Amino acid sequence: MGVELDRDWIAALPKAEVHLHLEGCIPGHVVFGSEPVPDPEIDNLADLLAHLDTLCGRIERADQLGEIARLVGQRASAAGALHVDLIVNPSHWPHWRDRLGAMVDALDGPLAEAEQDGGPTVGLCVSISRTHRAGQAEELVDRVLELAHPRIVGLSIDGNEAGGSHNERFVKAFDHARAAGLRRCAHAGESSGPEGVREAVEMLGAERIDHGIRCIGDPGLVADLARRGVPLDVCPTSNVVLGIVDDLASHPLEALRLAGVPVSLNTDDPLLYGIELVGEYERTAAAFGWGRAELGGVARTSIESCFASPDRRAALVSELDRFLAR
Ligand code: ADE
Ligand code: ZN
Repeated sequence: MGVELDRDWIAALPKAEVHLHLEGCIPGHVVFGSEPVPDPEIDNLADLLAHLDTLCGRIERADQLGEIARLVGQRASAAGALHVDLIVNPSHWPHWRDRLGAMVDALDGPLAEAEQDGGPTVGLCVSISRTHRAGQAEELVDRVLELAHPRIVGLSIDGNEAGGSHNERFVKAFDHARAAGLRRCAHAGESSGPEGVREAVEMLGAERIDHGIRCIGDPGLVADLARRGVPLDVCPTSNVVLGIVDDLASHPLEALRLAGVPVSLNTDDPLLYGIELVGEYERTAAAFGWGRAELGGVARTSIESCFASPDRRAALVSELDRFLAR
């Protein structure tokens, strides 16, 4: 490593976090109060998703949602994340999934307050579940568009592709979202292989791929992603914990970056993995011998690929440029 990296420099580096699940940001005290907080061993995606159902199933009150949102803003500020694209999948939330408007309102107040206090801008990406039927996905998009809440900026799809990606089921929902002006991202290439990534781009019109790392199995696809500049929002620790890769040293993100694919670093479900964004930058830099140039490049991708307004994105890029020129 050319330049000694210190934590304070990484924390001050202007960046965005573009792959963060609200469901993975629920602190134990919000769910369990003063009861003991269970700490299950999670080492695969299916168990993770089941655990998210358990946690979210206990969030009944608006003030609990507000507290989760407030802490998202606080952690982003501590990590130098000036914008967050926050994924929320209503199907995890039995007390809220039929009251999307109330759910978004409960999150919106604290997020707006954090922003007014100099915290990050935050856009919500409402997420379809991979296991949904076409009708459920289309209904969710209809509800989002009816709501027309300015806090919602995008459509996402997450969950487990082990039973198949079934992208044909979701084409209409994504087409509708695109026509209505929503930004689009999709989980692919985590529990699916390269074909899942190609379909997310070509069938769903995803502008950004959540994870996407298993595209590495198809060199032609890697070249296409690089040529088209399709960004991958990579979550290295999540991939290690869930057994998608063996360890950080063998993570394909460095090969992808060197092949010209835009990659950003993100935490996915930080409170479940016990991580925060600065640590993710630190660990990745250490694993691949990165210095400030590489970290600055990854931060630039995070900002350029985020779903903030064009003005906000341009302002954040300028802030990053000023920081790197210091
Ligand atoms: N929802 C929360 N975390 C996820 C992940 N890593 N993959 C798919 N869906 C998720
Ligand atoms: Zn994710």
